Amino acid sequence: MKNYSREEKLKGKKIGFVPTMGALHQGHLSLIRKAREECDRVVVSIFVNPTQFGPGEDFDRYPRDLESDVRLCEREGVDVVFAPSVEEMYPENFSTWVEVKGNLTETLEGAHRPGHFRGVTTVLTKLFNIVIPDCSYFGEKDYQQALVVKKLVDDLNIPVEIVLAPTIREIDGLACSSRNRYLSKEERRAAKVLYQSLLRAKTEIQDGEDNPSCIISSMEDLILEEPLAKIDYIAIVDPVSLKPVKRIRGEVLVAVAVKIGKTRLIDNMRIKSVF
Ligand code: PAF
Repeated sequence: MKNYSREEKLKGKKIGFVPTMGALHQGHLSLIRKAREECDRVVVSIFVNPTQFGPGEDFDRYPRDLESDVRLCEREGVDVVFAPSVEEMYPENFSTWVEVKGNLTETLEGAHRPGHFRGVTTVLTKLFNIVIPDCSYFGEKDYQQALVVKKLVDDLNIPVEIVLAPTIREIDGLACSSRNRYLSKEERRAAKVLYQSLLRAKTEIQDGEDNPSCIISSMEDLILEEPLAKIDYIAIVDPVSLKPVKRIRGEVLVAVAVKIGKTRLIDNMRIKSVF
């Protein structure tokens, strides 16, 4: 992988990189297409990274389908699929970790999944060193992850541009995610409540409601009407610092994490207030 990237860079080629954990969906494909448009070479990594899963999370059952992922990549004109093994990425004596400290990693997903972002930033540092991309593409569905990765590359002077692309949604609004594959038919129907709750927040904010607690409790009411749903968190935060806002002014990020049956889903929306 390194040799390929070094050679292409010597030829003056711009390398676009889409890091993934596989089970590719329309969200990934939109990132690949953006990279294809903006770069000369496109590299996709497929690696279910064990260090970003907590104990009791879904590492073992995370969907793996390398053959069909590679076929999709071929169809999208991807130049290289980099799919290392766990042993290659984390040999027995592996002992270095890369961690972004502070509010960005302590709140929202960080608060509910301890160690998650440390695993993400460690594996991405390794992948950036191996793939040596000019640009790397991330979806806004994992908005907090994108902010953490931007902080990582800023703080450590990693010479890669982080490019964000909009969340891709199914017809009923459910954000594309590899974890949607876990949902039974009944759960899949229930899962649209995440997006519906974000739309309710949008309507209320655009109607002039500026008290975050009122909006959060109205979102809770909607989600709790769905018997299969269990709220992990609902938050209204500043889209740069991720700190909770006291009053809604300018743009805010509304973020939700909800369990549908055993499957934990997240979603978010950036919403501009009328104030
Ligand atoms: O978003 C993901 O799929 C993962 O967190 C990433 C960025 C591929 C790192 O393992």
